[in-house]
Amino acid sequence: MKGHLITIEGIDGSGKSTVLRFLKEKLDRYDPIYTQEPTKGYIGDVVRGVICTDTDHLAEAFLFVADHAEHVNRLLKPALESGKIVISDRYSDSRYAYQGVTLSGSFEDPIRWIQDIHRGWTIVPDLTVLIDVDPKIAVKRCAGRFATNKFEKVEFLSEVRSNYLRLAKEEPDRFVVVDAGGSLKNLKKQVLEGIEEFLSHKNR
Ligand code: TYD
Repeated sequence: MKGHLITIEGIDGSGKSTVLRFLKEKLDRYDPIYTQEPTKGYIGDVVRGVICTDTDHLAEAFLFVADHAEHVNRLLKPALESGKIVISDRYSDSRYAYQGVTLSGSFEDPIRWIQDIHRGWTIVPDLTVLIDVDPKIAVKRCAGRFATNKFEKVEFLSEVRSNYLRLAKEEPDRFVVVDAGGSLKNLKKQVLEGIEEFLSHKNR
C-alpha cells in the first residue's frame, strides 16, 4: 500500500491523549488522517459501553476485534491505498496487550491467540510508538478524570505494560519505545522526533 500507518500505544494514563493533541499541531505538513480504536462508529460505541460492564472477556475481545475489522476495511484500506499517512490512537497492539491480560486464564499464550485471530486480514502498522510509563504514575494521572473504566488499576496495568514491552521486544523494527516517566514536554519531543525520523526516511 502506498500510504503509511503509524499507531500510538500505551497504558491508560500514559499521556497518550496529550501527545496526540500535540501531534495534531505539529504534523500538519504531512496532512495525516487521525483515527482511533475503539472507533467512533457504531461498534466502537458498543465497545466503549461494554468496557464499563463485567461482560464476558471473550465476548468483549471479539467486539474489539469486530471494531478493528470495521476500522481496517472501511477507513484504513482506502486511506492507505490513496497514499495517506494515518495516525491511530490505539490499534491492534492494544488488543494484544489488554486482552492478553483479560484472557490470561483462558489460553496458554493469550497474546499469540489474539494475534492469530488478526492474521490474514489486519494491516500491520509501519511504525508503533509505545509510550511507556510506570503504572503507579499512570493511575495517578487517571484519577483526575471523571469517567474511569475497569482497566485503570495498577496491578492490571502492570500486566498490560509487560505485554506491551514483550511486543516491542519481539518487533524492534516496528516499535519505538518512549519513556513517559519524565516531563510531558520531553515526552512530546521524543514522540515527534520518532515519527519525523520515520517519515523522513519514507519520503526520501
Ligand atoms: P478509551 O476511552 O479510548 O481510553 P484511552 O483514552 O486510554 O485510549 O478506552 C479504551 C479502553 O479500552 C482503554 O482502557 C484500553 C482498552 N482497550 C482494550 O482493552 N482493547 C482494545 O483493543 C482497545 C482498542 C482498547
